[in-house]
Amino acid sequence: MRDSLLIIEDEKLLGNELARHFSKQGWETTLVRTLAEAGKCIQEQRVDPLVLLSDMNLPDGNALDFMGRCKDAINSTEWLFLTGYGSVADSVRAVRLGAYDFVEKPCALERLDLLVEGAARSARAQRRLENQVREQNSRYSLRTLTGKSPAMCMLRDMVEQMAQVPFSSLVITGETGTGKGLVAKVLHYSGKRAKGPLVELNCAALPHELLESELFGYEAGAFTGARKRRRGLFEQAHTGTLFLDEIGEMDLELQGKLLKAVEELRIRRLGGEHEIDVDVQIIAATNQDLQQVVGEGKFRQDLYHRLNVINLHIPPLRERMEDLQDLVQFFIAENNAKFGKNIREIPHTVWEKLRGYHWPGNIRELRNIIERCVLLATGEIFPEQWLQLPNQVGRSAAAAENGIFLPLDGTLTMQDMERYIIQEVLERTGNNVAAAARMLGTTRETLRYRVQKYHLKGS
Ligand SMILES: Nc1ncnc2c1ncn2[C@@H]1O[C@H](COP(=O)(O)OP(=O)(O)OP(=O)(O)O)[C@@H](O)[C@H]1O
Ligand SMILES: [Mg+2]
Repeated sequence: MRDSLLIIEDEKLLGNELARHFSKQGWETTLVRTLAEAGKCIQEQRVDPLVLLSDMNLPDGNALDFMGRCKDAINSTEWLFLTGYGSVADSVRAVRLGAYDFVEKPCALERLDLLVEGAARSARAQRRLENQVREQNSRYSLRTLTGKSPAMCMLRDMVEQMAQVPFSSLVITGETGTGKGLVAKVLHYSGKRAKGPLVELNCAALPHELLESELFGYEAGAFTGARKRRRGLFEQAHTGTLFLDEIGEMDLELQGKLLKAVEELRIRRLGGEHEIDVDVQIIAATNQDLQQVVGEGKFRQDLYHRLNVINLHIPPLRERMEDLQDLVQFFIAENNAKFGKNIREIPHTVWEKLRGYHWPGNIRELRNIIERCVLLATGEIFPEQWLQLPNQVGRSAAAAENGIFLPLDGTLTMQDMERYIIQEVLERTGNNVAAAARMLGTTRETLRYRVQKYHLKGS
């Protein structure tokens, strides 16, 4: 599709000449002689010009007034004004309204070509950005938070509400893989700052000194190696959102600086003299119990209270197993499309295994397992053999550390239990039969016999 150019010019000769010239250059050109006609083009014929080239004074009014009226309808169009009666007042107003440029007639065609090309580049960049925002908006809409459990419904409601108000900071808590990162994206992209940047920083990924310079930036010469000035993430997130992941890992001294920045919305680059105003909203996430970390003296109480004005908690998957069905179907559909597969049927034994598992890695773990299964599927039936959940027996986290949990609901026979106990101990000892025998209070010979009997792996 050719780029479109709308020309508003009442001088017949000039208008025709411009239209002919730009058509020759490959533009799809529309020429009108009055503002009323231009309005009709935009409103009724839905012409959405990349560039609008307009005379200033037209028989039915001033083009700047017209621009003020239609700017919203065609907001990623660049406006270029041509006039024979240029006045300073008009040019100032043109700039204030966001016009691309203002040229006096007569203007050589070569110069006009350059201006129109520059305006087109700028409008294209704006459109690219808008498309990106639109894509992200639909990619991270509220609907991407899958699940019908009461906890998930409540979370969606809270996220929806929060996206509509200008909050300054918020904390998302939840175990690993529960969707904290996803919720942060949904909050940003369905909120008022969607057009601004979303800047992410994982506080656990960088050592202390680097974290500070990442956040606040630095001036040239602030420290060895700081050759050029660098804007920090606070500045980069201006008008948008700064997402601080794993906030519990930040060290106390930096926490103090962060608190100051969050309270004053003003930062100073390392080695810098001036303070810089920043307009950011902070979303922090952690899988730790922040209150407990505060109690241990590893997290500042004042920062905790400042950030934690609003807390969105995402419960682990095992506490909202009602979501399993929707999530599984969602991930199967996603991966069917990704790998060109066609899984339609999930055997009930698969559902049983999925429901019986305790999901320590939460939704991320589920997503990865489903991805593997879809990738390896050969037909329409979900391939149970690739499920390979780490431990098919449900167990509590505490039991997993200090002992073994065995369900007494008839799902395991005595023999299964013995096999399971030996397998589990071998896993924990890295297949070391001598160590496993010690843990089980038996001899190596006895254990070796059982290992062979049950076809287990041991060395
Ligand atoms: N409710 C949900 N619906 C659909 N997908 C989800 C949902 N929650 C999480 N996911 C997906 O699960 C994966 C893990 O989520 P995410 O990375 O947001 O977890 P996290 O809580 O940030 O984990 P970590 O603490 O390890 O950083 C992502 O691929 C995410 O898109
Ligand atoms: Mg995360």
